[in-house]
Parts: sequence; structure tokens; C-alpha cells
Amino acid sequence: MSVPEQFEGFMIEDSKNWSDFKKQKFTPKKFESHDVDIENECCGVCGSDVHTITGGWGELATSPICVGHEVIGKVIRVGDAVKEFKAGDRVGVGAQVQSCMQCKMCKSDNENYCPNMVDTYMAPYKEDEGHSDKPMKDSSGNQIFSQGGYSSHIRAHEQFVFKIPDNISSTDAGPMMCAGLTVYSPLVRAGCGPGKKVAILGIGGLGHFALLWAKALGAEVYALSHTPSKEPEAKKLGADHFVCTKNEKWSEGLEFTFDFILNCADMTNEFDIATYLGTLNINGEFHNVGLPDKPLPQFQAQVFTTNGSKMGGSHIGSKKEAIAMLKLASEKNIKPMIETIDISEEGCKKAVEKVKVNDVRYRVTLTGFHKAFGTGKN
Ligand SMILES: NC(=O)c1ccc[n+]([C@@H]2O[C@H](COP(=O)([O-])OP(=O)(O)OC[C@H]3O[C@@H](n4cnc5c(N)ncnc54)[C@H](OP(=O)(O)O)[C@@H]3O)[C@@H](O)[C@H]2O)c1
Ligand SMILES: [Zn+2]
Ligand SMILES: [Zn+2]
Repeated sequence: MSVPEQFEGFMIEDSKNWSDFKKQKFTPKKFESHDVDIENECCGVCGSDVHTITGGWGELATSPICVGHEVIGKVIRVGDAVKEFKAGDRVGVGAQVQSCMQCKMCKSDNENYCPNMVDTYMAPYKEDEGHSDKPMKDSSGNQIFSQGGYSSHIRAHEQFVFKIPDNISSTDAGPMMCAGLTVYSPLVRAGCGPGKKVAILGIGGLGHFALLWAKALGAEVYALSHTPSKEPEAKKLGADHFVCTKNEKWSEGLEFTFDFILNCADMTNEFDIATYLGTLNINGEFHNVGLPDKPLPQFQAQVFTTNGSKMGGSHIGSKKEAIAMLKLASEKNIKPMIETIDISEEGCKKAVEKVKVNDVRYRVTLTGFHKAFGTGKN
């Protein structure tokens, strides 16, 4: 199957014009022995895409930039060392495309914490699959950065490519690659299951998957949301209880309740964290996967002493967890609630603007890639 020298994507040039996408060509990293080349079919739109293009997390490291890290497509070429995949396989790629594969983290199914990881977009590549200190450069001498999935193709190290079970549609599988995995990993590591009371805070892309997984894992599930209209859907997704945090007295009667709060919300900088910590059971954890633009608010350390609570966070998940998540979704026939928008300059604009104003129920998957890029003929 033929692989083009350059890939094509809908790209942003500067964060002042963060929703002005232009279709452009870009040079991918050099093809190496563990790489898998994928012709993209669809891609979910993550809150992190919006933080990146708006400059909320910092200036763009390179321009133009193509975001998107919930990619599903078809394998069209594999490197010499790749054993797991062959041309024609339907696969997905999430928020990471490379790690060193040699450090303590990589050797213990924690490659999502490798200090030498390469994020799916806006990360500089180094030569020799990241093992050299030399930056990887294109023929004009420019540093090559990773580029994401609002694009025709993606190239990723095989460790970060996941086989998609046949009974999960591509548009449902896309959002599992980042949103699904990012909440599956901390829930499982926290022992989410029967007998546990688990609160999911912020019912967006991540939060809605967290409701699905927490319910499937057997916990008693509480949805905590500042949007009262989400109650019926939250309950359909798996919430046994719905708590509207807009109500000033929302925490009354919930003291010492939750074993785990998974914070998927985007605006924790505006939250009264002490109130949330007060709803935790003894030694319970307030766990952040939401990554707001601004720092967390200050609060007294004494807050932790009333119930021995703790606070933590996590970054996506490992391949082992991605495989287990896909198995769970496949066996229990778990389906996310998604909206689809055909990819185009206008389609990308509409999708990211909807995420920005909390108007998505609950994830957008961009579709129509073959038509937009003239691909799909392989
Ligand atoms: N740690 C990781 O590895 C990782 C991976 C992916 C994404 N993320 C981060 O996770 C966060 C969520 O991503 P997402 O894609 O799920 O975004 P999203 O779909 O926009 O969901 C965010 C949710 O936050 C809540 N929220 C928004 N504005 C709020 C406000 N002003 N006050 C209170 N709550 C508010 C809303 O839930 P309610 O309406 O229910 O309150 C909203 O649905 C982002 O910060 C993203 O960057 C982290
Ligand atoms: Zn993401
Ligand atoms: Zn490593």
C-alpha cells in the first residue's frame, strides 16, 4: 500500500486564531522499525486539543500545528520490527506516540509516565526512535514535531497502537483512545468496584466515559455536575445518583461518603476544593485528570486532616489498560454518547468551539476523512 511522503491535516497557525483551521501538508517523523503507518478514518475532539490551540497551557511550540489524539484508522505499513500489526488492521492511537521502552516506567506498564515520552502532537522528535540526543530534522534542517489526528495519516510506535475489537464502531472507539483510557486507568488503579462509592466530577468527554466504566466495574456511582440538564443522560450512562454542584448546599449529607472522586472538570481553579475533600470517606482520594489552564486554588493543609483524605492525578493510561478497557467495552457492549461532524475547515472550527462552550453531548468525533483527504483507496 502506498504511503505519501507528506501527510495532510487541518492545522492552526496561531493561538489568537485558535479555531481558524487550514488544510495543509506536513512532514511526519522518519519511518523507523517500530513504526506503524495508519490511514485515518475518524478522530475524537478532546478538551486538551482546545487547551493546546488556545494557548491555555502555554505558547504553541511549533506552527502550524495539527491537534487530535483519538484517532482510528487502517494500518497501511509496518516497520521491520513490528509483530503485532499488519496492513489492513483497524487500530487506534491515543495521546502518546513514543516512549523510550527501556526505563523503569516503560518496563512496568507505566509507559504513560516515561520521562522521554512523545505526545501525539506538538512534541519534538529525536533520532533513533528517541534513543539519540540528536533532534530529528526534515530536509530543510527544521526540527520535526509530532502532528495529531485531524489529518490524513498518523505514524506511531507500535506500543501506542491499539487493535480495535470488531464490535466497537470506529466513531465510538475514537474517543476511547484518550478520554476513555484517561479515566479507565485511575478508576482501575483505585480499585473501583463493588462496595465502592465513586463520584465522577464534570460530565464531559472524560466524565461520561468515567460513568460508563465505573458502573461496568460495579461501583455505586455519583455524577457531580454544574449542569442540571445533564441529569437524565448521566443516569442513562450509569450514575446511580446525580448531584448538582450549582446548588450551594450540594455537599450537605455527603460528608465522609466517597471512596474516590475522579475530577474530570476543566475549571478546578474556580472550585472550593475543601468542600469536595470533605465529602471523601476516610483516606479517600480526590483525583485530578482535568487539567485547567490556571493553577489550583490555595487551601489550608488542615483540610486533609478531617478525614485523612488525599489528592492526586494521572496522565492517560498504559497499553495494558487500553487493551483491558477495549475488552470491557467489547464484552459488555458499552457505547459512549457521541456527536459526529464531518472534517473540514468549518467542521473543525465548529467542533472546537462547541467544546470551548461546554455544548458537546458528550464527545465529538470528526468523520468523513476519506472524502476530505482523497484517501480510502488502499
Ligand atoms: N490527565 C490526562 O491525561 C488528560 C487526558 C485528556 C484530557 N485531560 C483534561 O481533562 C479535562 C476534561 O477534558 P474533556 O475532553 O472531558 O473536556 P469537556 O468535554 O469539555 O468536559 C469538561 C467538563 O468540565 C465541566 N466544566 C466545564 N466548565 C466548567 C465550569 N466553569 N465550572 C465547573 N465545571 C465545568 C463540565 O462538566 P459539567 O457540565 O458536568 O459540570 C464539562 O463537561 C480537560 O482539562 C482536559 O485537558 C486530561
Ligand atoms: Zn485527550
Ligand atoms: Zn521510558
